[in-house]
Amino acid sequence: MIQKPKGTRDILPGESYKWQYIENTIKEILENNGMKEIRVPAFEYTELFQRGVGETTDVVQKEMYTFLDKADRSITLRPEGTAGVVRSYIENGLSNLGSPLKLWYNMPMYRYENVQKGRYREFRQIGTEVIGSESYLADVEVILAGKAIFDKLEIPNIKLNINSIGCPVCRKKYQEALRDFLRPNFDKYCDTCKTRFEKNPLRILDCKEEKCKKMNVGAPVILDFLCDECKTHFENIKKTLEELGIDYQIDSSIVRGLDYYTKTVFEFISEDDGLAVLGGGRYDGLVKEVGGQNTPAVGFATGLDRIVEVFDKYNKDKIKNLNMKLYIANIGDRAEIIATKIAYELRALGIYVEKDICSRSINAQFKYANKKNAEYVLTIGDTEVEENKAKIKNMNTGIEEEINLNTEEIYKYLS
Ligand code: HAM
Repeated sequence: MIQKPKGTRDILPGESYKWQYIENTIKEILENNGMKEIRVPAFEYTELFQRGVGETTDVVQKEMYTFLDKADRSITLRPEGTAGVVRSYIENGLSNLGSPLKLWYNMPMYRYENVQKGRYREFRQIGTEVIGSESYLADVEVILAGKAIFDKLEIPNIKLNINSIGCPVCRKKYQEALRDFLRPNFDKYCDTCKTRFEKNPLRILDCKEEKCKKMNVGAPVILDFLCDECKTHFENIKKTLEELGIDYQIDSSIVRGLDYYTKTVFEFISEDDGLAVLGGGRYDGLVKEVGGQNTPAVGFATGLDRIVEVFDKYNKDKIKNLNMKLYIANIGDRAEIIATKIAYELRALGIYVEKDICSRSINAQFKYANKKNAEYVLTIGDTEVEENKAKIKNMNTGIEEEINLNTEEIYKYLS
């Protein structure tokens, strides 16, 4: 038997309704913030991610699904959404839609990762990108939209960690200090870290190898190197969160795994398993890097696979798969036509109706209705067709009543 590729998942009918509920809830929150949906391709030219996400990141160096297409172009399945959205923003002249432009997306992403709990190779993100505001108020709005997701979904034990990684100006000084700290142990770092030492030492702090992590303890923190502008920006965010009574922690170890970030970075972590359920930050240089005008922006992406998991833990019985309202059991040629007609008309009125489509016996039809938890069963045979009346049974109470074989009447009875 052919199995699914490692790191991919089947979302089965017994789970998909939870995904729909969570996706709809997040969509509503984002739309209430004025964000409009954008859909971008699942694959882009590789160069977009090399330039956007950054040559020295794990994502670009180790995790991309890259291949040559039949015309020898290098193509990559999107490992994240921000670069593609920014490419689309520039290519379609979306700055004409007014500023700030607020977008959201719900898309699968592809990363060749070490597969483990909460870490897949195909995973789904809902994200938002707010393009065109340099004010800290945009960061606050985006952070609040993230918080609203966990509040609305009633997922507890989620903590907000924030940090600032400064701008290219202050980062230069920091990089020097960091290199000075790392230099004495340079030979002991892994090969990937060594390649990052000159180009982007900040990435060394993101290394997942235990020996590197150990040597990184005590490294200088970028917060001590922020320029006045970055400092004020960060202070304003902290002050606003405090005034709003929103709990947060400063975590100077957050450097994020993507190179485009400037100033604010943040993560919402599930304290139950330590996994990030949402990550984001400001990226004031990305639009220019990808070929557009200098345009500030901030955004986040949630990991839906992880959110569904924690949601399930706390809200198992909160939502249910839609139950069948009516099953129309039928026997005989004429009854079959009437059942088909009534089912068609009731569905058009928004009722969940099923009927036999396998030409089964009445017994087998009842069995199916029971298995699918039908609330009512209407039984139609030749006599019922002749008299234009049939029995409708409430499967929970067992009470049976007679009803005219008229869609309007049945609809009213069920509503
Ligand atoms: P990210 O931190 O790489 O950021 O991913 C965001 C979220 O996606 C993570 O917090 C996590 O919940 C989920 N995630 C990441 N990798 C996996 C995986 N292998 N399996 C399951 N879930 C995963 C970004 O992707 C940025 N584009 C976010 C952003 C938008 N920043 C600004 N705008």
